[in-house]
Amino acid sequence: MKKTTSAHGPEVQESFADLEPQRHQPKSLAELNMMIAAAKPMVHGGHKAVLGEGRVGAPLALVGEQPGDQEDLQGRPFVGPAGRLLDRALEAAGVDRKDTYVTNAVKHFKYVQRGKRRIHQKPTVGEVKHYRWWLLKELEFVHPHLVVALGATAALALSGAPVVISRNRGAAQFGEFRGFITVHPSSLLRHTDKETRDAAYTSFVHDLRSAARLAAPL
Ligand code: URA
Repeated sequence: MKKTTSAHGPEVQESFADLEPQRHQPKSLAELNMMIAAAKPMVHGGHKAVLGEGRVGAPLALVGEQPGDQEDLQGRPFVGPAGRLLDRALEAAGVDRKDTYVTNAVKHFKYVQRGKRRIHQKPTVGEVKHYRWWLLKELEFVHPHLVVALGATAALALSGAPVVISRNRGAAQFGEFRGFITVHPSSLLRHTDKETRDAAYTSFVHDLRSAARLAAPL
């Protein structure tokens, strides 16, 4: 059984190492993306896959949870409020988003309709497991120096077991990938108190800077 280690926290056991078997093995990221785009959504609500974005060989890969309303409409990852915050934090950390590869653990938006609004629903562990083979294959093709898990769903998808962010924040190992665990940018938007929000933002920027340093070619 594989283990995921963290610089700070205890090891977590690989709880779903046995990936969903796939009949067809894609030979490139383009072919994998065609498979993802053609597949039926595994979550209720989303209708079109939001694929990862960035360059193959980018030193830093950033993995979020799942596309939100704006991402679903525009067909691109991290372009809504959380994405704008991520962009601002990346810039503050001295990281150009063009030098990263950005993707999500789950490729379809899951939501419930409330009036005119589509309210995001967190994916279940089973749904994260379903999408995991795609994510790991995608990262194999991108081959980054470091994979950053943005929040608990990404950390679950990458490590294969539940991860408590507060106890495991920092450098990590996700199977064969060198990794880093930090918060999801949308968690910063949930702080109502300005002082707490500012402190959380500063820590997030600090994490991105540390991740970029770890991802830098030796
Ligand atoms: N939140 C995510 O996790 N991913 C996105 O693409 C947007 C918001």
